[in-house]
Amino acid sequence: MDFFNYKNNELYAEDLAVTDLADQYGSPLYIYSKATLVRHMNAFKEALAKKRHLICYAVKANSSLSILALMASLGAGFDVVSEGELRRVIKAGGDPKKVVFSGVGKTAHEIAFALEQGIDCFNIESVPEINAISSVAKSLGKKARVSVRVNPNVDAKTHPSISTGLKSNKFGIAYDEALAVYRQMAADPNLEICGIDCHIGSQMTSGAPILEATERLLDLYKELTECGIKIDHIDIGGGLGVTYGDETPPSPYEYMSAVINRLKDLDISIYVEPGRAMVANAGILVTKALYLKKGSVKNFCIVDAGMNDLIRPALYNSWMNIVEVKKHQDAKVDLYDVVGPVCESDDFLGKERKLAVSAGEYLAVRGAGAYGSSMSSNYNSRLLCAEILVDKNKSYVIRKRQDFSQLWENESIAGL
Ligand code: LLP
Repeated sequence: MDFFNYKNNELYAEDLAVTDLADQYGSPLYIYSKATLVRHMNAFKEALAKKRHLICYAVKANSSLSILALMASLGAGFDVVSEGELRRVIKAGGDPKKVVFSGVGKTAHEIAFALEQGIDCFNIESVPEINAISSVAKSLGKKARVSVRVNPNVDAKTHPSISTGLKSNKFGIAYDEALAVYRQMAADPNLEICGIDCHIGSQMTSGAPILEATERLLDLYKELTECGIKIDHIDIGGGLGVTYGDETPPSPYEYMSAVINRLKDLDISIYVEPGRAMVANAGILVTKALYLKKGSVKNFCIVDAGMNDLIRPALYNSWMNIVEVKKHQDAKVDLYDVVGPVCESDDFLGKERKLAVSAGEYLAVRGAGAYGSSMSSNYNSRLLCAEILVDKNKSYVIRKRQDFSQLWENESIAGL
């Protein structure tokens, strides 16, 4: 559930009309609803209430400072995958002690920075990474807390580009090798084992894969305990899906309850790393229809947002819901490919959409809060668009639209 609703055929973000916001702040525009973000965070808290836990919001889904600050104020920890993300968390007032650091390519510099900040845990993705973390920890005279991201070889049954828990994926350490890797880490004085981790994929619309992965982690937990290796937490990653169209994912409560049931008797915390489920439906991308173009085989609705603003449709062929911001009764509906201004054939937001739209009117892409602005770019020298946060009847700019000088601020004309 979110707080983007129609009143008198007009789309509202909480108590504010989306048309007014787009007129005021310009288009394209990302709009987030604070009440929706709070609701989602509370849903995870309730889902985990019966067990010691840490909710590590996956920063990559939306790394806006205001959203991170809101999450931190609600008690969240964070899952980061780069020094940049960790610095954002700190800048937003997040607690580094509640940060887990994932990712297959942590550099020595990033490891050192994270150790200096006192993060909770590194989620280890390979054997060479263990050696890197150990040697950086040694040089700093610190002990690094570590957890192995186990690749449980479970099919997340999602889009291949966002499935991460199969043997063929680059992520994590193979399940069969995990015990030996833990033994190696246990013998290393620079490391302190604290957990077991997995993340098997994103946009999962059933709880079955994560339960299967939990069973495998549980087997490993038992083996480790028998070897005298103490585990403080089990991290089941992110991955809970959202409704873009007709998907019916479980609620956080439903998703977590079977997992909690399996882990309830263990003296451990449960960590989760939700990204999409926290922010996707808390954001929309508003875009203006510039031209309606009748082609010989199809019609195009050319809008002012492109794949540089929202790349999910172009990159994964993701279906995202596109709606008219103002609905006109009895207006003529046509079938359109909704395309952006970027010079790529794949620059589309949606194909074959029934829309009643005229040039100059606004459309909104729903579910754009996750992997929208965080994956945006300056391709075609287009400016990163403005982002606003709505709280009831108030709106706040949380990122100004870029200006043109920012496009080349790090460049110099040299070597002529
Ligand atoms: N933890 C780890 C280690 C991850 O790699 C990810 C996402 C998450 C947590 C959060 O997963 P979520 O709860 O958001 O599913 N750009 C793609 C999604 C890529 C997800 C990458 N990893 C998209 O737009 O669909």
